[in-house]
Amino acid sequence: IQKTYTMIKPDGVRNGHVGAIIKRFERAGLKIERLEMGMVSQEQAAANYAEHKDKPFYEGLVAYITSGPVVKMVLSGEGAVAKVRTLMGATNPADAAPGTIRGDFGLIMDENVIHGSDSEASAEREIGIFFA
Ligand code: GTP
Ligand code: MG
Repeated sequence: IQKTYTMIKPDGVRNGHVGAIIKRFERAGLKIERLEMGMVSQEQAAANYAEHKDKPFYEGLVAYITSGPVVKMVLSGEGAVAKVRTLMGATNPADAAPGTIRGDFGLIMDENVIHGSDSEASAEREIGIFFA
């Protein structure tokens, strides 16, 4: 059965959306395999966002993801990777459809509520980073 890594980002925690987001995952039939609240270290942020290292928004992205507690989860289920991506909505909350997590709880690109692995390979890598 497929696993994916997902993380409620600091703004999602700060704005009180943890329960509502987890409820959506459970309602979609995803099973919570691991769940932990805590900070993201500089090392974890750098590893998770290595693909964006040369982008202009990289430093802000790392500062934001390490700015406060997050909720780290491993979810499992049939097609879990794609299911979570669909529930999340578009990267920019301004473009995310109503009914998606980013569409309902996000406002701006820099604080977009939730992270989800974009492939099975990413999921395996990210689970290793956050649940070593
Ligand atoms: P994640 O689930 O967080 O990985 O989002 P994603 O897969 O939808 O997007 P992507 O991996 O391409 O980008 C990672 C994160 O970088 C996004 O969630 C955004 O917060 C941020 N980001 C991506 N592109 C931009 C951009 O053009 N400008 C800014 N400010 N942030 C960006
Ligand atoms: Mg991504």
